[in-house]
Amino acid sequence: MDLAYDGSEGMRHSTEKWLAVVLLGAAPLAGQTTLRQAAAARAIPIGAAASADEYGPPDMLQDPTYANLLSSQYSMLEPGNAMKWDVTQPTQTTYNFQPGDELVAFAQANGMRVRGHNLCWYTQFPSWLAPYAATATPAEMATLLQNHITAEVTHFKGRVFAWDVVNEAFNDPTGSAVPGLRDSIWYDQPGIGLTGTGYIAQAFQWAHAADPNALLFYNDYNIEEPGPKFTAVLNMVQDFVTNGVPIDGVGFEMHVMNSYYPSAAELTQNLQALAALGIQVHITEMDDRLLLDSNGDASAADLQAQAQVYQTVLTTCLQQPNCTAFQVWGVSDAVSWIPGAFPGYGAALPFDVNYQPKPAFSSLMTAMETTAPALNGSYVVNAASYQGGAVAPGEIVTIFGANYGPANLAGAQLDASGMFPTNVGGAQVLFDGVPSPMVYALVNQVSAIVPFEVAGKQQTVIQYQYNDGNGNVVSNTATVPVTASAPAIFSLNASGSGPGAILNADYSLNSASNPVAANGAILIFGTGGGAIVGSATDGALAPGAGSLVTQPVTATIGGVAANVLYAGPAPGLVNGVIQVNLSIPAGLAAGPQPVVITVGTASSQKGITAVVQ
Ligand code: XIL
Repeated sequence: MDLAYDGSEGMRHSTEKWLAVVLLGAAPLAGQTTLRQAAAARAIPIGAAASADEYGPPDMLQDPTYANLLSSQYSMLEPGNAMKWDVTQPTQTTYNFQPGDELVAFAQANGMRVRGHNLCWYTQFPSWLAPYAATATPAEMATLLQNHITAEVTHFKGRVFAWDVVNEAFNDPTGSAVPGLRDSIWYDQPGIGLTGTGYIAQAFQWAHAADPNALLFYNDYNIEEPGPKFTAVLNMVQDFVTNGVPIDGVGFEMHVMNSYYPSAAELTQNLQALAALGIQVHITEMDDRLLLDSNGDASAADLQAQAQVYQTVLTTCLQQPNCTAFQVWGVSDAVSWIPGAFPGYGAALPFDVNYQPKPAFSSLMTAMETTAPALNGSYVVNAASYQGGAVAPGEIVTIFGANYGPANLAGAQLDASGMFPTNVGGAQVLFDGVPSPMVYALVNQVSAIVPFEVAGKQQTVIQYQYNDGNGNVVSNTATVPVTASAPAIFSLNASGSGPGAILNADYSLNSASNPVAANGAILIFGTGGGAIVGSATDGALAPGAGSLVTQPVTATIGGVAANVLYAGPAPGLVNGVIQVNLSIPAGLAAGPQPVVITVGTASSQKGITAVVQ
């Protein structure tokens, strides 16, 4: 599996090996009050389009009401205009990144991410550009676009995590026909000299060359539900994926009305169609415009209906693992583009013209706090090897991708009777209803010890549950197969391979500078050894040497059978951790040698080494 699939900063396996976190204090449960806090517990960025002074004063970031709402409610921002051509290339030979820089600096000062928007669009040009394009050759247009993309992406490299590379390139459909590409100076007037979606692919390649780490998106509207326009985009994305064009995601703008928005089923269908191609989706520009009365107000009923629309979209996004960001198009109704672009409409955002929360704010909070976490049995892996498959009694597992949990790492603390807790930071994992001893919890990465009660079963139902401390308890289940043993050896680095966390007989760490003597012994620590005779109490510390794992244990080092001196619980560590002591067989070459333990018929992962003198 790809452990980085969710793109979040939650992947911390290097420091959060279970041994390291046992002594950390458990994070207290804290009720969330802002969208930003609630979104942190879902590991999803929540964003808003924002402005500085790109079109002159006032500088919105100097308005405390605006700035405080932006930084307290949102964890991401996207310049609504400051990174578009009309601002960033005011003359043919000059760039202006100052307003974008100011927005990026604000984001960085407030721990927010930045989406970049956009590099190639059919409109919002500086005044010189359309006249230039009218007489330019395709080769000149290609040079112009390449230079612009390269300069802008390079300027913001490392500070913008995702770019809308090409914006709104497809026509709106007439009838059921799949629409073609929109006329534009980059496509056909005169274009950059490439046919079809070739200009779009080329823009992605230029952006990728300038910042290989940025996520690259195609962004458009009216593609949130199945239909000919989505089909056109999906066909292009499929072609890009097939041909290695560096595209990571599609932006669903989500400019909707109460009378027109995708149903949960329709949105789900489109999210899943892109997930099947390995493509992420960001909801990039959500607003829900309402008809205003002569006083400029929306009706209470419309505001309630709007709240439901926002909740439906966010809930659906949270349920699909490839929906990895949610953003609204403006900080509040006071600064929304809607009244200007759609006369008679407004009140489209979760905060009103006075920057006060609307029903849509509350419904977004509800979606964040009550949507069941995603859970997928194939993301349940052994905590030492990171390999998935069946789980074994006593195995320490790490569950990735459960997208609701403590925003900050919560570690286990032993209770008064010396037992591992069954709840850390509000997170619990149950196997067929039996609460498991918990090692640590962090949204998207939770570690627990499979109860010994699963021994002898064919499969087990894993239930992951989170209590946010605000009265919301939500859970989800996944069924995984059970095996008698699934041994895995702890390694020193986070990859589940490389040097083992192996001790020499004097309890010093085996390493290149501290190899085991050719006639010495090593102590291996692992998990997944299966049931333990006589001391299989969930969450208790191992009672001491003597009781054995219930299946025969063998081992090899350097491919040679090694004499097993001891195999059983690891005294002083939690039940489920196994310790295997080996004597080093004669005749091994000096240096790192692969170590494998086998419990019953199952063997530990490849690639673990101990160093021999
Ligand atoms: C809008 C801005 O909000 C306005 O201020 C500007 O006058 C026009 O553009 N789709 C997009 C956005 O991708 O860039 C647009 O933003 C809204 C529609």
